[in-house]
Amino acid sequence: MTKKSEVDPSRPQLRPATRLVTGGRDTAANHGFVNPPVYHASTVLYPSAEDFLARRTRYAYGRRGTPTSEALETALRELEGPACVGVALLPSGLAAISTTLLAILGAGDHLLVTDSVYQPTRKFCDGVLRRYGITTTYYDPMIGGGIAALMQPSTRAVFVEAPGSLSFEVQDVPAIAEAAHARGALVLMDNTWASPLYFRALDKGADLSIQAGTKYIGGHSDVMLGTVSANAAAWDRLRGTVHALGLCVGPDDIYLGLRGLRTMGVRLAQHHQAGLKVAHWLAARPEVARVLHPALDTCPGHATWARDFSGASGLFSVILKPFAQSAVNAFLNELDLFGIGASWGGFESLAIPFDCTAIRTATKWAPGGPTVRFHIGLEDVDDLIGDLERGFAALAAAR
Ligand SMILES: Cc1ncc(COP(=O)(O)O)c(C=O)c1O
Repeated sequence: MTKKSEVDPSRPQLRPATRLVTGGRDTAANHGFVNPPVYHASTVLYPSAEDFLARRTRYAYGRRGTPTSEALETALRELEGPACVGVALLPSGLAAISTTLLAILGAGDHLLVTDSVYQPTRKFCDGVLRRYGITTTYYDPMIGGGIAALMQPSTRAVFVEAPGSLSFEVQDVPAIAEAAHARGALVLMDNTWASPLYFRALDKGADLSIQAGTKYIGGHSDVMLGTVSANAAAWDRLRGTVHALGLCVGPDDIYLGLRGLRTMGVRLAQHHQAGLKVAHWLAARPEVARVLHPALDTCPGHATWARDFSGASGLFSVILKPFAQSAVNAFLNELDLFGIGASWGGFESLAIPFDCTAIRTATKWAPGGPTVRFHIGLEDVDDLIGDLERGFAALAAAR
């Protein structure tokens, strides 16, 4: 009943899209059913006192893992490739980020973080980490190997996010990793935008690859989830910290993550194609000054994206010509198919205004016009373009 693809993850002929479908499946253990059951579990009973004393059991306790959590962890591990030795599941993307930082850093350590980082990551560094005696220096996301000049004897980790999820600078992760590793620091990456399907973070130099599973893994805007994939240099510390903090994810949310993962390949391919079509359409609009989409050469780090990434997801930004915010609001309010809301990675399209000016500390954000971030969902792309066209008409009327 069990297929070879389920038990031999090293089979080289299996491509990532196939791994998404077969990874972590164990039909023999599940009575032939394709999917694992959702184990609602805390206590595990042992057959005898001797077994209990010797801890002779496959699963020890609900918090420490169940067949449901193991299925998603295994699927993600297979997707990441052989460099991945373990995956931890956390209750949100932000929890995955904060737990990873706590796992790697200690009092007196120094951390380097990209200035383009997701803002709550910055808040965690400037708040909780500072209170625990860990200092953070922010750096220009385009610094590449120049990061070497910022390394201090106490620098323990470099945090990268490629591309930034508002401003879209694509970082040179291999160059940063080479400089970091030469000085004994680990590289932590928020890889939510590309996922391991389009950027093999652990093969490109990251030691820990973090995803907000809330986005493309879940894919339906109905779950909060975080994942961290670690290589051999980082896994023991990550696992130990997750266990010590008592972190775990509810089984229904894990199941939604696993279910979403199975279709992530086809969804991402559609986000990629539709996103590119809308990005090119926007680039030709007279209202748009610049499109910040990694696959377009108007995006900082486009050449790095072309070298290191095998695809793009549906998230990108535009810089508009200098319109009043009220006109931009009229544009956004007119949109019918684009919702106005945080997060992304679901089936639905989104558009939000943003401004990084007050957030940046290492670089200056001066785009020269208002900025809008789009998430291109799974609607018909021509309907989305029609919606944007009506939005621009409202913008013109509001000028
Ligand atoms: C790039 C990035 N990383 C992490 C997160 C945090 O994920 P979560 O909302 O699951 O905590 C987000 C959420 O928007 C994000 O955009």
